[in-house]
Amino acid sequence: MKENPHLIIFNENKDTRGCLVAIEGGNNIPFEIARVYYIYNTPQNIERGFHAHRNLMQVLIAVNGIIEVTCEYHGQKSFYLLDSPKKGLLLSGLVWHTMKFVSDDSILMVLADTYYDESDYVRNYNDFITLEQNFLSGFLHERA
Ligand code: TYD
Repeated sequence: MKENPHLIIFNENKDTRGCLVAIEGGNNIPFEIARVYYIYNTPQNIERGFHAHRNLMQVLIAVNGIIEVTCEYHGQKSFYLLDSPKKGLLLSGLVWHTMKFVSDDSILMVLADTYYDESDYVRNYNDFITLEQNFLSGFLHERA
């Protein structure tokens, strides 16, 4: 299943003791969770990512701090500010993305639908552009 990148706002259970967010695979995110990883202890304003995936679906959540995500797909760029643990960013399909860890206390937690598989990564930007052009020309061909 491919969806354009978009934010998911999670329901927050808030009371005087604090806040609780529950994430259920296949319920408030559109896939079963096979893997969770998190990135922390990043220097302020460091950027990571700089890759796309062929098939992986992921939801990115800044469980602490502020993270800016830049996405590029279909020749367009979009920006998402992850500044609350209530926000998740769904990424699927061929999306070139970078994550900027704006504050040095930022923690990025990622939920993914498969185990780690390096062969799913597209780490070369020119390869990404070629794959995307192939995808778009196939899509237009199917519609003709
Ligand atoms: P990398 O893809 O470079 O991180 P980023 O997306 O932030 O640029 O991953 C860093 C290292 O961690 C790399 O050696 C691969 C490894 N890794 C795993 O072993 N399992 C995982 O689930 C992920 C995401 C990365």
